[in-house]
Amino acid sequence: MKTNIVSTASGKANVSALFFVKKSVQFSNVLSENAEKQVESVLDGMKDGPFEDLELLEIDGQSTIFVDAAKERGLSNLDHLRMAAYRLAQKASKRQIPMVSIMLADAAPEQLKSILHGLHYADYKFDAYKSKQKEAYQVTFEIVAGEQAAAFKKIAQEVAIEQKAVILAKNLINTCASDLYPAEFVENANTIAKYTPGLSIKVRNIKQLKKEGFMGLVTVGKGSSHEPYMVTLSYDGTKSAKGKGTAKNARTSSDHLVLVGKGLTFDTGGLCLKPPKSMPEMISDMSGAATVLAAIQAIATLELPIKVSAVCCLAENAIGNKSVLPGDIFKAKNGKTVMVDNTDAEGRLVLSDGLAEAGEIGATHIVDIATLTGAMVRALGYAVAGFFSNDDDLALKVINCGEACCEKFWSMPLEEEYADALKDKFADLKNTGSDAGAIAAALFLQEFVPENTAWTHWDIAGTAFVTKQWKYTEHGATGFGVQTLIELARRMSKANNEGTENDAIVCEDEYKVC
Ligand code: BES
Ligand code: ZN
Ligand code: ZN
Repeated sequence: MKTNIVSTASGKANVSALFFVKKSVQFSNVLSENAEKQVESVLDGMKDGPFEDLELLEIDGQSTIFVDAAKERGLSNLDHLRMAAYRLAQKASKRQIPMVSIMLADAAPEQLKSILHGLHYADYKFDAYKSKQKEAYQVTFEIVAGEQAAAFKKIAQEVAIEQKAVILAKNLINTCASDLYPAEFVENANTIAKYTPGLSIKVRNIKQLKKEGFMGLVTVGKGSSHEPYMVTLSYDGTKSAKGKGTAKNARTSSDHLVLVGKGLTFDTGGLCLKPPKSMPEMISDMSGAATVLAAIQAIATLELPIKVSAVCCLAENAIGNKSVLPGDIFKAKNGKTVMVDNTDAEGRLVLSDGLAEAGEIGATHIVDIATLTGAMVRALGYAVAGFFSNDDDLALKVINCGEACCEKFWSMPLEEEYADALKDKFADLKNTGSDAGAIAAALFLQEFVPENTAWTHWDIAGTAFVTKQWKYTEHGATGFGVQTLIELARRMSKANNEGTENDAIVCEDEYKVC
């Protein structure tokens, strides 16, 4: 897929695409009077029966494809556009149409962004393990942008960077666990750091982890022949040369956003073995780490004027003669002792180290992201991620950024009434708690959040990986969270540089989705 942003149509397109909602066409101010009449009568005909989505008709001498931008249930207007563009791109590729034009001169920037994301999603396939790779037909999309061409080109570049990150995360997540063990993830992170200007990397191996007391990772990784690692990537966009769009008189911000990702390259459950049915999906248990790696790559490439770090907590939860035993007690990095009640509740143990590392490197804001609990899958399913936060401002930002990126977040309570259930007889804490499993896990994590730090925990157990088609994802990794993390960094950097901390205002001005 290729996109050309042009001010006026080149006349070379084989097909024009029109997006419609119910009976009206979106982005219609470029249609001739004659075309408008024909389109009107086509859409009017809908009352005689369901109108075919993706129907190809002749309008004013131009072959025109009609795309329904309100087809699915429960999606926002922006997500409808993503879906419409996704289906359009699939159809165009299948029908081998060389060039499709989309008239978007009167589209808002966020609408263009959604359409471009939708087109990109249609391009993704994961066929690394197929014996034969099929070449997809390359369609060129000509985006007719009128006076907005320059602004739209910039958006198209940003979308391409964001999509590159989404693809990186998806590829890592979809790769077999025997091919992507912790050391191999580290190799990938090293390569990303090497080729991304402004991104530095620090890798801790088992020896360093033990020496520095990162015992969550050491404990969880004990049973595997693949040793655990911690990777910390850092980017500082507040330094002079960096940070495109840094206002001249920008307030120097002391914000440091640290992203912490759960990176279980496979989760057998350990000695508290998982049932076979739910095990293959555990190749996705490193989604958090893949997401934060991908997000920081994009944030650095976009040169956002903010300081961001990403901590990947990498281990394999396997069974071996050295595996952690239920009842074992270890001392976490912050000095608290933890009894391992259930070896399958391993994510919170490695994240305790990630949160400690975030504190050590001076985080002011922490987002941890993890495929943490089956309880969250049962509560919210695959379409909505549950999140927790100790800071109302940050929580509002999560919701708004998610909405702008068509990723749904639902606020969950850090319910203190359940906190006592984490207490252990011998140790300070145990790694299981109340029946409200997702809340218990979040309360456990809260015990390791550095003092005076705004923190949010995203449980993406349901949203990271799907086993049937969901929106623009076929079976496999969805890339959920990558875009919202980038958007969060973008809005935090804007608030820093434009002197507004008010997310509601930023949201209203920019996206009109509040
Ligand atoms: N990786 C799993 C959570 C998970 C479940 C992710 C389904 C994706 C899909 C996690 O390590 C886990 O097994 N959690 C346990 C915790 C329990 C033993 C307290 C769970 O949720 O069952
Ligand atoms: Zn587990
Ligand atoms: Zn897990």
